[in-house]
Amino acid sequence: MKLDGKSVVITGGASGIGAAIARAMHAAGSRVCIADLNLEAAEALAQSLSGVAVACDVSEEAAIQNAISVAEAAHGPVDIFVSNAGFGRGQPDHAASADNDTWNLNWQVHVMSHVYAARALLPAMIERGEGYFVNVASAAGLLNQIGDAAYSATKHAAVSFAESLHITHRDQGIGVSVICPQYVATPLIGLGDDDVDLAENLLSAGDVAACVIDGIQTETFRVLPHPQVAGFATARTADPERWLQGMRMLKAKADRELSGSSLLEFYKLV
Ligand SMILES: NC(=O)c1ccc[n+]([C@@H]2O[C@H](COP(=O)([O-])OP(=O)(O)OC[C@H]3O[C@@H](n4cnc5c(N)ncnc54)[C@H](O)[C@@H]3O)[C@@H](O)[C@H]2O)c1
Repeated sequence: MKLDGKSVVITGGASGIGAAIARAMHAAGSRVCIADLNLEAAEALAQSLSGVAVACDVSEEAAIQNAISVAEAAHGPVDIFVSNAGFGRGQPDHAASADNDTWNLNWQVHVMSHVYAARALLPAMIERGEGYFVNVASAAGLLNQIGDAAYSATKHAAVSFAESLHITHRDQGIGVSVICPQYVATPLIGLGDDDVDLAENLLSAGDVAACVIDGIQTETFRVLPHPQVAGFATARTADPERWLQGMRMLKAKADRELSGSSLLEFYKLV
């Protein structure tokens, strides 16, 4: 899909990958609506991009509907919806130790928000024969994030929902890209643009945004900003026992070499 003149909503657009996507889409000629919990930061960025901002908690269906209304009032029917908002809390102890509120929030933010956007937009997009969903999942949605079972499970569900969207609606003119990066230097892992040189495989938010733009323009389903993820995913499917053995070795290394906030430092190991 071409980006010039398109009406776009970006959730979690006030920071990190979402903010970089907003900048890249504006540069490509789109009109952006930045929807975020953090209205102040969303407004500041929107102003610099001649766009609009809206306070939005993506875990609430009415808030997604409201963000779409704000975008449509400013820029016309939404052509591209970028479901990017996300978070990572880790698990305090064993694999089931995160409390139910944390599991539910992971499910709402990483999966249901994608469902809410599709539910609100699909009927009109199908009628127009055109529309695009960019769903930011994670390499954890194809592999696993050691130390955060809720994040891993819900990112897998996000990839699966994106597949369902594509299978059901691609032939009605609806495009879907699911974005599956490994580690990106953003506040989510306590880093920023100045930290990209800390590890070889660490990307900047701008690097990921460039892959997103390319993914939309080429209408590519699976977008892997870290290309090596394709090989890991293939290895996981081809020989699950061997892949799990490798993951256990990686976990043992993390237990030996990383500090208490190991989730934030995992980028040092991959
Ligand atoms: N940074 C990484 O290493 C990495 C790797 C793979 C995938 N991702 C995914 O990329 C996406 C963006 O993450 P990021 O790294 O840019 O993080 P970030 O913390 O820099 O930005 C996340 C943004 O989402 C917003 N947000 C969080 N919960 C929200 C909610 N309920 N409603 C609305 N907005 C909400 C935050 O206010 C923030 O502006 C997430 O889905 C994350 O899981 C990140």
